[in-house]
Amino acid sequence: MTLWGGRFDGQHDADAAALMKRFNDSFGFDRRMYAADIAGSVAYARAICGAGLITEAERDAILSGLAQVRAEFDSGSFVPQPSDEDIHTAVERHLTELIGEPGKKLHTGRSRNDQVALDIRLWLRDAIDAIAGQVGAIQRALIAGAEAHPGVIMPGYTHMQPAQPVLYAHWLMSYFWMLERDKDRLRDCRRRANVLPLGSGALAGNPFAVDRAEIARELGMDAPSANSLDAVSDRDHLAEFLFATALLGVHLSRLGEDIVIFSNPSFGFVRLGEVYTTGSSLMPQKRNPDSMELARGKAGRLIGNLTGLLTVLKGLPMTYNKDLQEDKEPVFDTADTLAVLLPVVAGVVASLSPVPAAMRAALDPAMLATDLADYLVARGVPFREAHHLSGQAVRRAEEKGVPLADLSVEDYRAISECFGDDVLVVFDFDASVARRSSPGSTAPESVKEQIRQARTLLD
Ligand code: ARG
Repeated sequence: MTLWGGRFDGQHDADAAALMKRFNDSFGFDRRMYAADIAGSVAYARAICGAGLITEAERDAILSGLAQVRAEFDSGSFVPQPSDEDIHTAVERHLTELIGEPGKKLHTGRSRNDQVALDIRLWLRDAIDAIAGQVGAIQRALIAGAEAHPGVIMPGYTHMQPAQPVLYAHWLMSYFWMLERDKDRLRDCRRRANVLPLGSGALAGNPFAVDRAEIARELGMDAPSANSLDAVSDRDHLAEFLFATALLGVHLSRLGEDIVIFSNPSFGFVRLGEVYTTGSSLMPQKRNPDSMELARGKAGRLIGNLTGLLTVLKGLPMTYNKDLQEDKEPVFDTADTLAVLLPVVAGVVASLSPVPAAMRAALDPAMLATDLADYLVARGVPFREAHHLSGQAVRRAEEKGVPLADLSVEDYRAISECFGDDVLVVFDFDASVARRSSPGSTAPESVKEQIRQARTLLD
């Protein structure tokens, strides 16, 4: 028997009814919110008792019944019935089986609309906390890598062209800050999620004197929602969650791409732990970075989940509409995707070993052409002019077919008298990196300070 069968005659074609049931039911996926659903019901049972709608004995019966239902879900012994349309009906059905009459009073003044709105918020809070913790683990691995290899210098790129030398630690830490912003966005989303919709009824509100502020306190929520129509239809926090996680996925896809490139034998800058790579069924020499290719690929799925939900929400009339049942699967899929992706990325980062010699070998003195211009600036040449003269030196070196550092002092002075006898001191990669010592730059001292800041954020 359904929960809402009173006004139906039940004379349906059996096949059509079965098909419709399959289409309509959400228990298959929303059962995972059972702990949230029961926590909400515990708070609601206390609230309707406080409002004088049930006796304390009835309340206690409900509470112990709910504890029993919860234990069955926890242990996997809960037995679903065909009538269990969703998690809300399943819990109420079994509660009533266990305790009889008082179970039928629990839903007084409540609707599945304010109930489901609450459940997903409670569920989301925990999901966000778990994800933020796992993002933190990646950040710790990045810091550990940066601290383990403080002096290693690698080529930095713009347009994927060799640009300027930077510290390997600086490159690693660049991902720390992306992830820090991701966590910040998740925290922000959690704050807006942590508002109580229960007490909004189906849409118009609750006619009984339930103390919503007390329910919110009991559930650790910041406040009751201010408008019941909005409360039963608001899914902003889910869209925000899917955006924050899609962007997190985009960030991890960029890290994935960097590692795919840097671990390619043509670069050979880093090796990733063997366990995160796979071989080829045809080519015996292959060691493919599948973990990071998947990190790149999963972003597509996470973005798809965001796009899917926004499309469901667009143009929905006030207030609750069954379309909203489509909100959960993308959110669950994103959480499930991240539950594996994040630890894999943390593992890959922890397993990364840099190959300093390969990075050194890829450093071309032409990457110090900016330093050459800066050298002229220090000698009083305006930067625009200095840039031009340095460019002429690059061209001269190309003509002679030698690296920029192998032009003679005479070559330099032939280009401009502004180049001094000491011009070749410019060609020192370590000195170039060390010069960039302003806060946030790549000098070892700056990176050390950066890591210190990062650590205070994690503690
Ligand atoms: N399973 C439903 C959902 O996820 C619960 C709310 C149903 N409300 C209703 N009036 N049928 O949205």
